[in-house]
Amino acid sequence: MCGIIGYVGSRDCVQIIQSGLSKLAYRGYDSAGIAVCHEGDIDLRRAHGKLENLVARLALEPMRGHTGIGHTRWATHGRPSESNAHPHRYGRFAIVHNGIIENFLELRQELIDRGHTFASETDTEIVVHLLAEYYSPERGFAAAMHDALRRVRGSYAIVAICADFPDEIIAARQQSPLLLALGEGENFAASDIAAVLAHSRQFIFLEDGDIARITPSSIEITDISGKPVTRAPKSIEWDISAAEKQGYPHYMLKEIFEQPQKITDTFRGRILEEEGLVNLDEQIAAMHIEQSKRLQIVACGTSYHAGLLGKYVIESLARIPVDVDVASEFRYRNPIIGPDDCFIAISQSGETADTYACLKIARERGAKILSICNVMDSTIPRASDATFYTRADPEIGVASTKAFTTQLASLLLLAIHCARAKNTITKDRAKSLLASLRSVPTHMESILAHSDQVRAAAQKLLRANSFLYLGRNIHYPIALEGALKLKEISYIHAEAYPSGEMKHGPIALIDDRLPVIVIAPKNSTYEKTLSNLQEVKARGGRLISIVTEGDDMLTRVSEYAFAIPDCDELIQPFFSVLYLQLLAYHIADLLGNDVDQPRNLAKSVTVE
Ligand code: M6R
Repeated sequence: MCGIIGYVGSRDCVQIIQSGLSKLAYRGYDSAGIAVCHEGDIDLRRAHGKLENLVARLALEPMRGHTGIGHTRWATHGRPSESNAHPHRYGRFAIVHNGIIENFLELRQELIDRGHTFASETDTEIVVHLLAEYYSPERGFAAAMHDALRRVRGSYAIVAICADFPDEIIAARQQSPLLLALGEGENFAASDIAAVLAHSRQFIFLEDGDIARITPSSIEITDISGKPVTRAPKSIEWDISAAEKQGYPHYMLKEIFEQPQKITDTFRGRILEEEGLVNLDEQIAAMHIEQSKRLQIVACGTSYHAGLLGKYVIESLARIPVDVDVASEFRYRNPIIGPDDCFIAISQSGETADTYACLKIARERGAKILSICNVMDSTIPRASDATFYTRADPEIGVASTKAFTTQLASLLLLAIHCARAKNTITKDRAKSLLASLRSVPTHMESILAHSDQVRAAAQKLLRANSFLYLGRNIHYPIALEGALKLKEISYIHAEAYPSGEMKHGPIALIDDRLPVIVIAPKNSTYEKTLSNLQEVKARGGRLISIVTEGDDMLTRVSEYAFAIPDCDELIQPFFSVLYLQLLAYHIADLLGNDVDQPRNLAKSVTVE
């Protein structure tokens, strides 16, 4: 995830910004840079790779200034490189940006037509060119920012400097976090508290639409039309470790709670609801995966579970046969794959050795290669014909959470795209599905508000030796994912079965010590699942169910029942999995385990 820090005051800011950037490093980044106002101009240093590279650059080519901005970049548009690193400088301005400018292609063309030349592949660079376009010394820096942002669609946290206003920084927020830290004769802007905690405990949290003009001794906040707004400062007493986790006790919990925002980011610019269409990157659209005879999904762990769900949604909507394999199996079974097939590698990290080995087999045999990945330009995307980036930002907790739900979101978008291209669903059905997808983040927020109830259940369940997870159809992969989460971080044995398969063996396990987690919202297999529940109850099993809101009957017979909204069957997994992530998290935390770095596990499995 990109990180921002800005400073205006009387101290030399390079060291302050550099040390602020080091506090943002935990978020993950692939390049970094600093720009300062100096002697009527803007000085800029950037470096690809680790912060040490930037520090080495600054040692060779030092710079000084009292007003400046810095950034750690995690690539979303444009590969990781020095020219794509922030700050971006043009004319009298330099800016740093977190977020995605959705209409950057059309703005870029417009600016090229007006004679601008661009030095990077980023969406961000548009904004610094717009500033130059709208700037006049008489109207000032802030007015140029207002004009520029009126042209921009998308999400942003922006901090900018202008060589003509060396005692001013401008900060603007739209759907991407940004705060101001208040000092004595100096002020700061930052994406995270961690970056500025060493200098201040008083913060103003900007809200969507806010634009702040910040000098060493004043802060003026207006909305985009220039109308003043008031934001009260808040005191924060966190230490640095709490600040990095944004006040959450663990990265995993922070990442669970980030999911509504990350899903919003995955959808940004990709949903054309009115047309009932999905707007894919050109490279992906050009692959015409809907014309493939068969899709072969390969992945490991949580990504494999996303792949299984992908099979359900792609087959049901687009009527394309989909096979899903665990990578370590696929690579040694002499798989049947060829030029008529599309191979889809799903990997959060893009570095998983087994998945990459399978990709190479598929490549040798002539299949088209698409990857669904979270880390731009990692090994798997580089070896693919095209990549659908999930935009979950770096995931630090070893147990995958937001990577999973953004993979689901990506697979649903691909399924709807293929279905429309093949005419297997109507425009109206696509519109209704896309509208349902758009509602996912809001519903997720309301489920996350029940975290304390899940913790209360976790308290009562944590002494169990084993758990059984049951789900049918699209909830079977969710049951698998719930069981994996519990195993990984609580070290309690858990297994998942398709509900209908229970009677073929696992039913023998059921007694009053076995918690059985059943995912049973109202959908096309609800009645069938009810019979499976009766089988659990009849044997005295402890029933914990995930139900549709208002399902009093199931709620009554369950020891704990957690409700999800009454919604399209295809989006139910986004909600059921939240409860399972929370349950695993709370059990592990109550057991005192190292939730973020569970024993024996690595975040990225780069060996076979
Ligand atoms: O980076 P990838 O998605 O390729 O990683 C695959 C698995 O190693 C990963 O999902 C693993 O199972 C996680 N620990 C799950 O929480």
